[in-house]
Amino acid sequence: MSYKVIDSATLNYKDHNYSLPVVEGSEGELAIDISKLRSESGLITIDSGLANTGTCFSDITYIDGEKGILRYRGIPIEELAAKSTFVEVSYLLIYGRLPTANELATFRHRIGHYALIHEDMKNFFNQFHSNAHPMAILSSMVCSLSAYHPELLKPDQSPEERDETITHLLSKVRVLSAFAYKRSIGQSFVYPNMKYDYIENYIHMLFATPIEEYVINPVVKRALELLFILHADHEQNCSTSTVRMVGSTKTNLFAAVSAGICALWGTLHGGANQAVIEMLERMQREGGDYRKFIERAKDKNNPFRLMGFGHRVYKSYDPRAKIVKKAADEVLENLHCKDPLLDLAKELEEAVMHDDFFIERHLYPNVDFYSGIIYRAIGIPTNTFTVLFALGRLPGWIAQWKEMVEDPHMKLCRPRQIYSGETERHYIPIEER
Ligand code: CMC
Repeated sequence: MSYKVIDSATLNYKDHNYSLPVVEGSEGELAIDISKLRSESGLITIDSGLANTGTCFSDITYIDGEKGILRYRGIPIEELAAKSTFVEVSYLLIYGRLPTANELATFRHRIGHYALIHEDMKNFFNQFHSNAHPMAILSSMVCSLSAYHPELLKPDQSPEERDETITHLLSKVRVLSAFAYKRSIGQSFVYPNMKYDYIENYIHMLFATPIEEYVINPVVKRALELLFILHADHEQNCSTSTVRMVGSTKTNLFAAVSAGICALWGTLHGGANQAVIEMLERMQREGGDYRKFIERAKDKNNPFRLMGFGHRVYKSYDPRAKIVKKAADEVLENLHCKDPLLDLAKELEEAVMHDDFFIERHLYPNVDFYSGIIYRAIGIPTNTFTVLFALGRLPGWIAQWKEMVEDPHMKLCRPRQIYSGETERHYIPIEER
């Protein structure tokens, strides 16, 4: 880890000066270290939504939200999107460097080898309601992995045991998410096949049936590869912070990632990809008048927001959205598929980008704005979009968890609060209330 104390800041409170170290990260990011603030001054800091709080030092992903920069382990997302594969990017994120050809082959082989889930786990799928959301199924099933692998639950694993757990999870989540999808459409499960690579196997499990093989379309394969790479990590976003927070209790990786999946589900986070398509469909049903929706989003008395716009960190165009927008055009063209929602999305974006409300607040399309258009073209149902986001984000969650548990200074995550409720008062018996 490359950061250093470069200066100090002074907090003056009640005629006392408190000196707080200022640290600088490898890209020049600055922070005031307040870890001793409470013990020295009795003060804590309040930061709703943790918008200004760094919770860790991390070597994994760098974002410059003002300049629209995203890099995994130093490598620009644009280069990885153009040249790499999802499995290679997973290795990069988790182990900190690009693998050699041999390392990559071994990694691929191990992921392929661990693909089977315990046969008993299949029974769980049949117990879910037929309308169950695939994210509900996925989060439950990932946590259930801990019930089937007690040998992988030790709080203080050796590096070899940790690698074993990571590989099981990387491989099995793909199978569980494909099974969740099959369950949601009432089809029987299709088993993974060693003749396919990671993405091909996923497509095979999604679209083949026990009576028919699915011929893997290279356009579909490349589109999923690209989307998974773009989603693979995004530093301390809500679901990743959840994985770190839950993992900081020394619970097992399956439980921590299951919690991350639940966090991702919400519409302000990964669930936005489903919400975007639902919003566009609604616009279409209501005659295509997107301006009405823009006005609604600007109305302070209306909680409605334009899904797929805005980001906590990016205050310029999300670099992932740029790539996804271009890919959406290419995928639709190559699949000879015309989607009026893509035209509507582009018209909406154009109008938003010229609207002062959005310009002043630096609200641009985010990664979720165009990804749903691609998933639709591939034939994924809308309620399964966030499952694909989860699968893409998995190596990031794992890398961040690994970095945390390997840090000798790891601490339990336990924020504080400022209490604002009733001061001490006494119990009143029920008959006197
Ligand atoms: N539509 C309309 N207004 C918006 C939107 C939006 N999508 N996003 C932010 N604003 C306004 C907001 O009303 C506020 O206005 P004002 O200053 O007048 O009160 C201002 O912009 C700042 O909003 P905020 O809620 O303080 O900003 P935030 O950094 O907390 O929110 C966000 C980030 C992603 C929650 C928000 O932009 C949002 O709700 N977007 C829609 C949901 C979405 O697309 N989420 C996916 C995010 S990208 C995928 C991922 O990484 O999870």
